[in-house]
Amino acid sequence: EKNPTLVPHRGFNLISGTHDPDDVDQIYNLEIRDSDVFVVTYPKSGTIWMQQILLLLEAKGDVSAINHLNNHSNGDLIPWIELNGNRQAFITAPSPRLRVTHLQHQFLPPALSQKKGKVIYVARNPKDVLVSYFHFHKLANMLETPKDFDDFFEKFMRGDVFGCSWFEHIKTWYSHKDDMNMLFITYEEMIQDLHSAVEKISSFLGKELTDEQLASVVKHSTFNNMRKIPQASYEKVPDDLLSHQNGRFMRKGIIGDWRNHFTQAQNERFDQVFLREMEDFPLTFTWD
Ligand code: PPS
Repeated sequence: EKNPTLVPHRGFNLISGTHDPDDVDQIYNLEIRDSDVFVVTYPKSGTIWMQQILLLLEAKGDVSAINHLNNHSNGDLIPWIELNGNRQAFITAPSPRLRVTHLQHQFLPPALSQKKGKVIYVARNPKDVLVSYFHFHKLANMLETPKDFDDFFEKFMRGDVFGCSWFEHIKTWYSHKDDMNMLFITYEEMIQDLHSAVEKISSFLGKELTDEQLASVVKHSTFNNMRKIPQASYEKVPDDLLSHQNGRFMRKGIIGDWRNHFTQAQNERFDQVFLREMEDFPLTFTWD
């Protein structure tokens, strides 16, 4: 049985049983170290991809550092800060504390906006986000299975999903870009030139890897190679969380799959909303 419960909390929908609103509120009070790194994403924008890249950068490209570990997923090593129980562990964790989050800016410690710690915001073109999110709802047991694509399309446009509207998320974070040590990177640029993207991330984090080590990070974070590592591709996550028979977390990993899902009417509506919402934001996306 799927659990359909979203818990609206300060303009952000949490998932009942997965997040505790009081605990999420306490994230704001966490002390930040200069060595902390938060990967911030709207869901389905490249979170687990960035987990893989950061783990490999830490391991200087040595993939055995990841796949020998007896963990279920890379999310055990670079956890979502907002998941039940993870905030407490963060407090005493050794540096560097690498975390991912889908939360809105208002929930994160204000020290980040005083340039303490680092933030990597990964953005993906929202039409592909919508499609990826739709398919993920069939896989994830904590989320309600949508009736059909049209039903999910409407929910996404209303922001009636875990999180908030895609537009609110990116606009809020982007508008704080300059108060933070933030690297803003897109899923599409990672697809188009993974090597340059990895170099950019590495230098943002102040890492010094040899060319060979960097090449190894790139090699083991391609879609096909990540899929071969169960921890990286989330294939070992227990069945009570993900119904693996309904699809794969690493589904297609391409730009432009929205063309196989959107009707022309949906596309026109989306474009109108995008133009209106993003009017004051100088962000362009690769759609195909
Ligand atoms: S989640 O649930 O929010 O953490 O999901 P997230 O990891 O952000 O997004 C999942 C999508 O990212 C794709 N993915 C990749 N694409 C290309 N290359 C690599 N290495 C890669 N790793 C993950 C994954 O396939 C999901 O996108 P879709 O479009 O559904 O395939």
